[in-house]
Amino acid sequence: MTDALLVYRAEFPILDRVTYLVSNSLGAMPRGVPERLAEYADAWDRRGVRAWAEGWWTMPLTVGDEIAPLLGAGPGEVAMFPNVTLAQAAVLSALDYAPPRDTIVMTGLDFPSVRYVYDHLAARLGARIVSVPSDDGIGIDTARLLEAIDERTRIVAVSHVLFRSAYIMDADAICRRAHDVGALVSLDAFHSVGVIPVDVRASGVDFLTGGVLKWLCGGPGGAFLYVSPGVRETLEPALTGWQAHARPFAFEHEMEFGHGASRWLNGTPVIPALYAAIEGPRIVRKAGIDAIRAKSLRQTARLVSFADAHGWPVNAPRDPARRGGTVAFDVPNGYAVAQALLARDILVDYRPEAGIRVAPHFYTDDREIDDAVNAMASILETGAWHQFSAPRAVVT
Ligand SMILES: Cc1ncc(COP(=O)(O)O)c(C=O)c1O
Repeated sequence: MTDALLVYRAEFPILDRVTYLVSNSLGAMPRGVPERLAEYADAWDRRGVRAWAEGWWTMPLTVGDEIAPLLGAGPGEVAMFPNVTLAQAAVLSALDYAPPRDTIVMTGLDFPSVRYVYDHLAARLGARIVSVPSDDGIGIDTARLLEAIDERTRIVAVSHVLFRSAYIMDADAICRRAHDVGALVSLDAFHSVGVIPVDVRASGVDFLTGGVLKWLCGGPGGAFLYVSPGVRETLEPALTGWQAHARPFAFEHEMEFGHGASRWLNGTPVIPALYAAIEGPRIVRKAGIDAIRAKSLRQTARLVSFADAHGWPVNAPRDPARRGGTVAFDVPNGYAVAQALLARDILVDYRPEAGIRVAPHFYTDDREIDDAVNAMASILETGAWHQFSAPRAVVT
C-alpha cells in the first residue's frame, strides 16, 4: 500500500539524517523555517521599530489564525502565548472561586508543569483542587471523572491526551457533564492538536490550550489559547498586560480589557518564535488531520503489535479509539536503552513511569518503525545499553 503522506518528508530535512520518532516532544523542523527567521531578522534590520506596526504587534493573532482551523475555531479566536503553562495560568486567573463554586477538577496524570501552577495559584485564589487518580497509570476512568464534577466545580482543567500514555480523554462527555452542572472546561490539548481531530465547536469546550512545539512542527515559544465566544468577553484574566488593553498605546493607568482573543494576551510577544511557528501548522493542514489520524492509528497499532511480539509491556491504551500518537514501551533499563537508540540516530525519548516513548508522525516511513523496534530488540539482547546506564538530565 502506498503511503500518500510520505510526500511531506521532503519538507523536513532532518528526516534524511536520522530516524525521527520523537514528534511527541519536538516535531521536525520544516525546511521553510530558516527563511521565516531570516524574514524576522530582515524586518528588524530594514524596518526597525516600524516592524511593530507592520505586523509584529498583531502576530499573536495572525499566527493564531494559522492554527485555528486545526481546532475547528474561526479567525481571530486563537491567541499565541509563550508556553502552555502561562496560557493555563491565564485561564485559572480569570475565574473567581468564591464558595460554593470553589473547586477545580483535575486528574493525577495531567502535565506536572500545569499542575504546579494550578496547585500554587489555586491555593492563593482560595480554590481547592479535586484530583481524580488513575487506576492503571494509563487512563482515567471517565465515569469516575464525571462523578467528581458537581455543583461545587468552577472549572474542569484536564489534559485532552495524557502525556505519559497518550490516553485520549472523553472531551465531549466531560464538557457535557461540566456544562450540565454550570462548570467550565479547560483542555490542555498539547498532545492532541496536530495528531488527532479536535473540534472546539462540537465539544463546546470553553478553553483549549496547546503548542506548536510537538505535533505541529512549529518549534518552541509558540503556544496557543482558544476561548469560546460564550465566555471570551465576560471574563477578565488577572494574568494580563498591555496587549489585552482596549487602547494599549494610550498607556492609560486603568486597565480596560479589549475584545476578542487579544483580551487574553499579556506583554510583548515572542516575535522570533511566532515566525518559526507558521510553517509547521500550514503543512499539517495541507496533509489533513483525518489522513494524519488514520496513519497514526495504523502505525501505533504496528508498534503495539511489535511490543506484544517481543513481550514488552506497553503503556498506551489498547483501544485505538482511546490511543493518541505515542506508544510507550516499558522495557527494562528503559532510560539506558533510549540513550543507546539516540546514539544510533534513532530519536525517541524516555519518561519515568512511562518508558521509551515512540511517536511516529505523518512523515514517518513504516521502515523507520521497524528499524527502531529491531534496534531496541538488539540493544536489549546484546546488553549494549550497559554503557549508557549512568543517569543524565532528561530534556523535555
Ligand atoms: C500535556 C502537556 N501540557 C503542558 C506541557 C508543558 O507545556 P509548556 O512547557 O509549553 O508550558 C507539556 C510539555 O510536554 C505537555 O505534554
